[in-house]
Amino acid sequence: MTDYSKCEITRYPTPVLREKAQPIEEINDEIRVLAERMKEIMVEQKGVGLAGPQAGVNLRIFVISTDGTAENAIVYINPVIKTSGKMIANEEGCLSLPGIYGNVNRYSHCSVTATDLDGNEFSQDADGLLARALQHEFDHLEGMMIKDRLGYAAKLRAKRKLKQLEAEYGD
Ligand code: NI
Repeated sequence: MTDYSKCEITRYPTPVLREKAQPIEEINDEIRVLAERMKEIMVEQKGVGLAGPQAGVNLRIFVISTDGTAENAIVYINPVIKTSGKMIANEEGCLSLPGIYGNVNRYSHCSVTATDLDGNEFSQDADGLLARALQHEFDHLEGMMIKDRLGYAAKLRAKRKLKQLEAEYGD
């Protein structure tokens, strides 16, 4: 058994944030503990979403709560998303990249199919903030972060901050 109750937030350049996360094979108490801990971290850090790699765990799971509360948090296990609509630029931040903000292009709509903590498959159609959050968190499962999606000017602005994070969280 892995005890996920002690997980902490990971920040750039922690290597797990760069890896492709692995599918969850079995939804058991271990995974339920992980989901609870991820909700706690998200609320503590005042975010609206958190992906497995951001808790230091290389598994395909994320939680999203568009109002930032644990009560309204939805857990997505092994999610598959399908994007649609037009591209919209809006400002995003990321708990693993503190101090870095910038416009990121995302599709206006997406549908997601995932498994919940009881092992049941569910689907959602999303627009607005939820659609954006789903695409942001899904990126984390692919080892991708907003710093990779910023435009040229925002990338330049982020450069110094990234260096600081490398000094603080690198080895
Ligand atoms: Ni993020």
